[in-house]
Amino acid sequence: MPPSADWQSVPPQWTHRHLLDLERLTPEEIRLLLDTASLFKEATDGCRRKLAILAGSTVVNLFFENSTRTRTSFGLAARRLGADVIDFTAASSSLSKGESFIDTAKNLEAMGIDAVVVRHATPGTPHLLAKHLGVGVINAGDGPHEHPTQGLLDILSIRERLGSLEGATVGLVGDIAHSRTARSNLWGLTKLGAKVILCGPPTLVSDRWREFGVEVSHDLDAIVPRCDALNLLRIQFERQNTRPFPSVQEYAHLYAMTIERLRRARANLLILAPGPINRGVEVTAEVADCSQSLILDQVTNGLAVRMAVLWLICGPRAAALPAAGGPLHRSRGSIV
Ligand code: CP
Repeated sequence: MPPSADWQSVPPQWTHRHLLDLERLTPEEIRLLLDTASLFKEATDGCRRKLAILAGSTVVNLFFENSTRTRTSFGLAARRLGADVIDFTAASSSLSKGESFIDTAKNLEAMGIDAVVVRHATPGTPHLLAKHLGVGVINAGDGPHEHPTQGLLDILSIRERLGSLEGATVGLVGDIAHSRTARSNLWGLTKLGAKVILCGPPTLVSDRWREFGVEVSHDLDAIVPRCDALNLLRIQFERQNTRPFPSVQEYAHLYAMTIERLRRARANLLILAPGPINRGVEVTAEVADCSQSLILDQVTNGLAVRMAVLWLICGPRAAALPAAGGPLHRSRGSIV
């Protein structure tokens, strides 16, 4: 579908009512999402211009965890496509009067909405919502389980530079145990033919991940020279009951991406981080701001990916797509 083509038809290859995870998508479906995002980026002059093809649609942002990038870019992507956006704030809602999560969502649905973008600390919340609602549900992060649009925007950012993921080596470094970004990247990257190396301390990177066809390393210095891209993940202290290492300084000494480590990397090593970044912990300021860093490109690509996802979920053919149905999805990615 070229940018000048008739936007009134959602690609027939897309058959999902919801976007809940990348684990269950096929490589072709992931490529379709990435290709559609690229088209939107081109057609909107780098995500700056409006393309009001979802005028009359309404998207609800239902966020139960804090967010800067995801919430803002879903809202902006929807508005750039001409849709109305409702930003639901849990703290000031009737949840505080005892209304259940599902009743809350059903009441919002009764107002005539087209999609719900949900973020929640509990894994599987978007899947539960998809069983109860007739409108499209988009997972904006469910606890440590998945963050599919983050995975897509990370992969799109790498694909733009390398041309293809086939044969590329991508290191995911940091708190793999608690990272939904790591899981979405892992499924998406491996489906597109990339080699994935998970790297971090043994308390945060289990050797059991090898069961999923990825390499596990606890030595950042050993993997840096082999990688085409490194995605540097934040330590998710908010999801941990005990400290996985004695001190942040010790962690940073072993696992922060520094200029010294960058000098031992391939000349064009791509540096990514999903944000928010903690400068001096998983990445130094010099590396975060260097010319090889894609950190802000990722944010722009987040708009493109979310425009594509909203279009596929809310577009003209979307209402005819089947609901999720079936038993609640049980993820394979539950290793900590
Ligand atoms: N990367 C990401 O999900 O950022 P936010 O938590 O700010 O949305």
